[in-house]
Amino acid sequence: MTDPNATIVIGCDHAAYELKEKLKAFLLRRGAAVEDVGPHGTASVDYPDYGKKVAELVASGRYPRGILLCGTGLGMSMVANRFPGIRAALCHDLFGAIMSRKHNDANILVLGGRVTGETLAEEIVKVWLETPFEGGRHQDRLNLFDRIDESA
Ligand code: RB5
Repeated sequence: MTDPNATIVIGCDHAAYELKEKLKAFLLRRGAAVEDVGPHGTASVDYPDYGKKVAELVASGRYPRGILLCGTGLGMSMVANRFPGIRAALCHDLFGAIMSRKHNDANILVLGGRVTGETLAEEIVKVWLETPFEGGRHQDRLNLFDRIDESA
């Protein structure tokens, strides 16, 4: 059994299966452990099913960080952000990836397999994993999310 605290949980749909496989290999080369919730082939699947699996595993605290991929990244973002405690960030560039960690403490990174190429995706994953949350006033702002959840 791998250490959940050192493990990235990852999931996708058919549109991003190939990028998921490449990123998995990238993470393993970097020494990370990866929990892959699937799918395990290119047959058409429904992205909400896989978004839910990863979001639940991160929201429950089983894994601290997750990565989700679909064709655009949009559907996976919408699904993941429905789960309380999830801050999923769809990132297309390094600046967004860095700021999603520094200011938003994003716990799920979302990528679009039909949008972002392998090399940029790897760089995004790298900075997203390495950039710490700044806390302070940004934590105060995140605390306001809970009030929205409570009043919704
Ligand atoms: C699948 O065709 C596509 O709709 C999905 O991968 C994603 O882009 C949805 O947001």
